[in-house]
Amino acid sequence: MSQNHPDRRTFAIISHPDAGKTTLTEKLLVAGGAIHMAGEVKARGQARRARSDWMKIEQQRGISVTSSVMTFEHQGLVFNLLDTPGHEDFSEDTYRTLTAVDSAVMVIDAAKGIEPQTLKLFEVCRLRSVPIITFINKVDREGQSPFELLDEVADRLALDVCPMNWPVGMGGTFSGLYDLVEPSLAVPGKEASRAFEGERIALTRHDDPKLAAAVDSRALDQFNEEIELASAGYASFDVDAYRNGDLTPVYFGSALKEFGVVDLLAGLAAHAPGPQPQPAEPAPVRPDDDAVTGFVFKVQANMNPAHRDRIAFMRLCSGKFERGMRLTQGGTGKAIAISRPMLFLAQDREMAEEAWPGDIIGIPNHGTLRVGDTLSERSDVMITGLPNFAPEILRRVALVDPTKTKQLRKALDDMAEEGIIQVFYPEIGANMIVGVVGQLQLDVLISRLEAEYKVEAKLEASPWDTARWIASDDAAALKQFQADNRGAAATDRDGAPVFMAKDAWEVGYVTQRNPSIRFTATKERV
Ligand code: G4P
Repeated sequence: MSQNHPDRRTFAIISHPDAGKTTLTEKLLVAGGAIHMAGEVKARGQARRARSDWMKIEQQRGISVTSSVMTFEHQGLVFNLLDTPGHEDFSEDTYRTLTAVDSAVMVIDAAKGIEPQTLKLFEVCRLRSVPIITFINKVDREGQSPFELLDEVADRLALDVCPMNWPVGMGGTFSGLYDLVEPSLAVPGKEASRAFEGERIALTRHDDPKLAAAVDSRALDQFNEEIELASAGYASFDVDAYRNGDLTPVYFGSALKEFGVVDLLAGLAAHAPGPQPQPAEPAPVRPDDDAVTGFVFKVQANMNPAHRDRIAFMRLCSGKFERGMRLTQGGTGKAIAISRPMLFLAQDREMAEEAWPGDIIGIPNHGTLRVGDTLSERSDVMITGLPNFAPEILRRVALVDPTKTKQLRKALDDMAEEGIIQVFYPEIGANMIVGVVGQLQLDVLISRLEAEYKVEAKLEASPWDTARWIASDDAAALKQFQADNRGAAATDRDGAPVFMAKDAWEVGYVTQRNPSIRFTATKERV
């Protein structure tokens, strides 16, 4: 494969709601030259939201339920930023998005430190050894001390930390960022909130008199004290340790005031890995393999409510993709001509004439493509490792108008396909059961049933709270187990057997009593 194309940095930002992900996204796009006006990300989001009914939930709750992709070119590299919804209730989608990135930026609020959602998302990154750059945001406000924050990251995430810069003062006395790699000081421009226009003063060392002259005198004493300790007390930057997921470089900054954002972008450009090999059967797919192979990590319907169109988001893992290519869908063996692939730019979408490993393309389709699908020029390859998660809430779906059974089934199938919900068909009884990880998914479900499918339905309590996929090497034992537990037996929409349980305790009890059966909380598509 020819290599004369810019390298890619395909990454996501992980954070707890309110830490500043939206603001940082926007400022990265500004710093990368992709957009020129602040407010662009939100404004565009609002325009899109206005278009479809189900996104009303986003408006009402002020959160982003859908992920999108933003691509920009900067300093000879292509950056693909995958947006992940930050709400703690709606995380399956986020988890899957993280299977499509090569690295992540973890945003932490300097006052709050590591919060629950940060931790959950970090754990997903760790499972896949995704390298992480940390951005400690909001240093323009009073926060915890840099030492406390670095220790918290090191202790709670079991990572080596390497500060790349150091704030001179915080909150009211904040007067710049000292670069620990190449001694220099970034100070605000004349207009305090436009730091991109600010000055960078080259220094010989941290005790260079030019620094003292440029910063708040109250901040200076504290900085001098801190910097001695900081220079001596932490691991030095080691790119291999970072790429293995053992060390995180830490940038302090303020997304809102545009501090540290340029340095973060430079850090991503210099250190973040390009496209990585993707786990697959029979062997991992490598970015320099000739054959085009990719996988669908997200499907989004209702981009236009007048049509049943959906967009499958495919991460390209190998080969040079060209518009019009025919790719084979793993599993079904169906050949699909990709004639209208889309690229997502910061402000626009355009037809993708070509794409390279690390790129995300949108493929319009009518429901053929599902989350987890492999698309390839080869017919013998399956990307693995896109999990379904065990639901934590199970509800019975009851129709208000019983003549709409067909529509309901179609709607649930569609939404299961998008990964909004999981649907289970119990052995006994005609009611379908929906499973979700968080309550918000149920709100999305009801809202879309009414708006898109004109089906009025109610969700009723079910006797179960959770479910496990079941398997066994002993087919007879599995059959016997299903027969003994008919009341709790179901299949998922792929026909895979599922055991529904009242609670986690019951799962534990039943697991212990049936050693020949495997109960799994995630179902990987292989
Ligand atoms: P999220 O996507 O992670 O949920 O966070 P978002 O960027 O929306 O930021 C959450 C709030 O934190 C916003 O304030 C935002 O302006 C503020 N913020 C982000 N970065 C910084 C920073 O570096 N310094 C300070 N001081 N604040 C920051 P808001 O009042 O909730 O929203 P808005 O009305 O300003 O949009």
